[in-house]
Amino acid sequence: MTLIKINAITVPDGSGDELARRFAQRAGAVDGQDGFEGFELLRPTDDRQQWLVITRWRDEDAFQGWVNSPAFAHGHAGASRPAAHGGPVSVSSELWSYEVAGGSPAA
Ligand code: HEM
Repeated sequence: MTLIKINAITVPDGSGDELARRFAQRAGAVDGQDGFEGFELLRPTDDRQQWLVITRWRDEDAFQGWVNSPAFAHGHAGASRPAAHGGPVSVSSELWSYEVAGGSPAA
């Protein structure tokens, strides 16, 4: 059953467009990863500051394989740099883990 890992990223007002731009620059970066089934970046439409990265994986091993890979480290290297030098626009993030427990398909 698909495993859903959600990274909830807190982004200050005014920095969301930059976050979206950085994700767009990495489009396709995870596509070849074993067990990766897709992701969406969700922008808040209310006054929240949490953007959601909804990722879908075959199982926990597949997700861990990516998180511990050089590709992940490379793609997230900005976290250790100051903002003015390509560092993160996010101020914090939280990882959530889910599986589908019910619902109905769209028509
Ligand atoms: C659930 C899986 C994921 C986790 C645990 C994760 C982890 C993080 C964390 C902790 C941050 C904030 C710190 C930082 O800027 O490095 C972040 C930001 C970011 N992540 Fe991820 N991420 C995930 C999925 C993805 C995916 C699928 C992509 C797209 C290829 C991606 C691309 C980015 C980008 C572009 C940023 C913004 C960095 C910035 O502010 O410059 N992440 N991620």
